[in-house]
Amino acid sequence: MPDTITITDDRTGKTVTVPITGGVFPSSALRELDPSLFLYDPAFLSTASCRSEITYLDGDNGVLRYRGYPIEQLAEHSTYLEVAYLLLHGELPNQAQLDEWTYEVIHHTFIHENMRKRFVDGFHYDAHPMGMFVSSLAALGTFYPESKHIQDPAIRHKQILRLIAKSPTLAAMCYRFSVGLPFFLPDNDLSYPANFLNMMWKIGEYEVDPVLERAMDVLFILHADHEQNCGTTAMRVVGSSHADPYSSAAAAASALYGPLHGGANEQVVRMLTDIGSLDDVPAFVEDVKAGKGRLMGFGHRVYKNYDPRATIIKQTAYDVFEVTGRNPLLDIALKLEETALQDSYFVDRKLYPNVDFYSGLIYQAMGFPVEMFTVLFAIPRVSGWLAHWQELLDDKDQKISRPRQWYTGVDERTYVPLGNR
Ligand code: CMC
Repeated sequence: MPDTITITDDRTGKTVTVPITGGVFPSSALRELDPSLFLYDPAFLSTASCRSEITYLDGDNGVLRYRGYPIEQLAEHSTYLEVAYLLLHGELPNQAQLDEWTYEVIHHTFIHENMRKRFVDGFHYDAHPMGMFVSSLAALGTFYPESKHIQDPAIRHKQILRLIAKSPTLAAMCYRFSVGLPFFLPDNDLSYPANFLNMMWKIGEYEVDPVLERAMDVLFILHADHEQNCGTTAMRVVGSSHADPYSSAAAAASALYGPLHGGANEQVVRMLTDIGSLDDVPAFVEDVKAGKGRLMGFGHRVYKNYDPRATIIKQTAYDVFEVTGRNPLLDIALKLEETALQDSYFVDRKLYPNVDFYSGLIYQAMGFPVEMFTVLFAIPRVSGWLAHWQELLDDKDQKISRPRQWYTGVDERTYVPLGNR
């Protein structure tokens, strides 16, 4: 069977034969056929906007790999900082490289005092931590005017370090502000996840529990990248205008904030709390089927099978509950999953638990308020966004993102003076 598709334009009789490589149809073939022709593809259902070597996702078979490494192996053996290096550099670091990378990241964790005093302290007392986090990322860029020089490798590298290192600091700061606690400075003797937990919870004699430290690291690994999702696409679109990486990351974080994307983990816990009891699960599922809302934490644009991240998170939840005690919402979640997976509505639409279904239960058991859940997703996703940003800037095929539209508005008409309308 030839790996080509031949299209004939019936209006002109012109024919093009299009080579199909890796399941991809190059849209340049359509331009060849008729340069005035555009593909109409709302929400990019059939559009690959870039080539990428970072993350491989096979939605039908529930496969996720970073740079070729299965997510299950990384979650079992690796650390978030090692994974961040892998995403950005394409290879796992050797010991010397990892030591240097860790040292560099850990020595950029502090933020300028004015970020907190002049900027964060200006938020309203009940500001949502994710709204604060989004704005803080953009504000952080104003402290580094050189970050605009995105083509300079040394400057680029420095901003990557700063964004990865300072994200947990900003996140913890947003939380402590929202509950009125004094900001706690980074402790560079701690690991990346332990430092974050310490900044979140340190009051008096607090010590990070190693099980929770590892669970946080695993959750960071699982959330680090997920190819061209809404947030990463925002990073690439804004980055394509050559905005500085802080502004681009703020755009990506804004996209992540939405309840259909990273905001779903918060909505899952709200949903489980609203359901309230095992007996009310069937009625809730019926309501979803009747179109009264969605089953949050279920379904995915690409996964038409169990999200492999959800499997790992479910296992991690049991480790965490050994330390924190079982989250009472777990039983409702398990019943909901069981009920949905036996129901033809969900089976026929291939709706399975996604990464957000169980992560909120762990976060809640660890003491995080629901408003922090999407921030917890954003902290590690920063490394994925930066890996894509870097790849975009080095990709000779890329230009500023500028889709076309199908204009469906009114045709030309003559302005009517106000008094005549
Ligand atoms: N509950 C009930 N029905 C659903 C759900 C759901 N969670 N998700 C999809 N459907 C139905 C939808 O109504 C549609 O049915 P029909 O064909 O009868 O109109 C069908 O399944 C296909 O849905 P879609 O909206 O066309 O699918 P999509 O690919 O555009 O949306 C999604 C993907 C993730 C936005 C969607 O599944 C959803 O809203 N899920 C709940 C929110 C959620 O958990 N989001 C987190 C996603 S994973 C983390 C991340 O990457 O952000």
